[in-house]
This record gives sequence, C-alpha cells and structure tokens, in this order.
Amino acid sequence: MTLFACDSLAPRTRRLLAALLVGSIAPTLSASALAAGGSKAEIERGRYVVKLGGCNDCHTAGYAPSGGKVPESAWLMGDSLGFQGDWGTTYPSNLRIYMARLPVDQWVLRAHKMVSRPPMPWFTLHDMTDADLRAVHAFVRSLGPVGSPAPDYLPPGQKANGPVVVYPPAPPASSAPPAAAAPVAASPPIKR
Ligand code: HEC
Repeated sequence: MTLFACDSLAPRTRRLLAALLVGSIAPTLSASALAAGGSKAEIERGRYVVKLGGCNDCHTAGYAPSGGKVPESAWLMGDSLGFQGDWGTTYPSNLRIYMARLPVDQWVLRAHKMVSRPPMPWFTLHDMTDADLRAVHAFVRSLGPVGSPAPDYLPPGQKANGPVVVYPPAPPASSAPPAAAAPVAASPPIKR
C-alpha cells in the first residue's frame, strides 16, 4: 500500500521538480546562451572585424548608401534588396538569426569551407582566423536574434518581387588581362 502511494507520487514529484527547475534555470540559460563565449574584448574584436570585413554593406539595409549611419541595433538583419545575375537572385541573410541558430564551433567549421552564391565574398571567410570567426559570432549574438529571415533565393529566370541590383554577365575566365596602366610619374621626394 505504502509502496503504491510512493509509486503514484513519484511522477508527480518529478513533474513538480522539473517545473521548478525549468522555472528557475531557463531564464539564466537563455541569457547566458546569448552571451555565449562573449567576453567584452571578444565582442569588441567581433565588432571591428564585422566593420572592416564589410559585412554591413550587404547584410544591413541602407548601410552603404547612408555612409554607415545605421545604428548598431539595426545591423546585420539581412536585406530585401536582391542581387541579380546569372546565378539568379540572392538576398543577404539575416545574420542575427543565423548566428543564434548556429553553435560557435559549427560556425567556425562552416566558415572555413562555405561556398555560397554571389556576391557573398565567402572566400574571405576562409581566410579568417578561428579567433576572428569566434569573435564575429560572439558580436553578432550579442546583438540578439532580431528581425525576419531574408527572402528566399530565386533561381535564374524567376522574377523578383522587390528591388534588385543587376549584375552584368561575368567575363569569360580566359579573357585577357587588362592592358597595363601607364607608369605613374616618379613622385618628388618627400620634404621632411
Ligand atoms: C557584397 C555583398 C555581401 C557582403 C559584403 C557580405 N555578404 Fe554575406 N551574403 C551575401 C548574400 C547575397 C548572401 C546570400 C547568398 C546565397 O543566397 O547563396 C550572403 C550569405 C551569407 C551567409 C550565409 C551563407 C550560408 O549559406 O550559410 C553568411 C554566414 C554570411 N553571408 C556572412 C557574411 C559575413 C560574416 C560578411 C562579412 C565578413 C559578409 N557576409 C559579407 C552578401 C554579402
């Protein structure tokens, strides 16, 4: 009889404990998950790499046209301005959502090998050090997963709904290099 009572109580007790644990731990977890790996110095480094890496030029709406005058709270949310060429139409991803979904180790692995469509300069990510990639991840996560996903990629020939930047066809890979520029006149010695 006592055994029975214990048995029927146990699941309820477990559920109660689970509820208590979720209630007390979950908020701490989500807060620290957002700040994962992000010491102040690392986040600062990530901000610097993102700025100099030009990521905002495409992944932040209006960044380049405004001379970089978009507040940081609106950075890297992707753009609905499409890039159209013989690859179809691509849209810069919302990196705030992207980084929130991708654990840092997976990001580092992916960034070293990733090949995506133009005009994403994926090849520059291959050259970044692990430390810089981690810093970029920490910085983007520190901004929080805000905004909505960018429009889906459209294959060649499919009409885009919104505005697009149209690229001319790529020159054939075998095309001759441009003629050498005229030599620059020797500059006068610098006066000290
Ligand atoms: C010239 C515009 C441009 C610049 C600059 C740029 N991106 Fe992108 N990026 C894009 C576009 C467009 C896509 C979507 C490509 C596609 O759909 O295949 C993209 C996609 C991505 C993706 C998703 C790739 C995947 O398939 O997993 C990541 C991550 C990314 N960019 C990171 C960066 C980072 C970090 C920087 C700065 C170092 C940067 N981008 C600079 C245009 C750009």
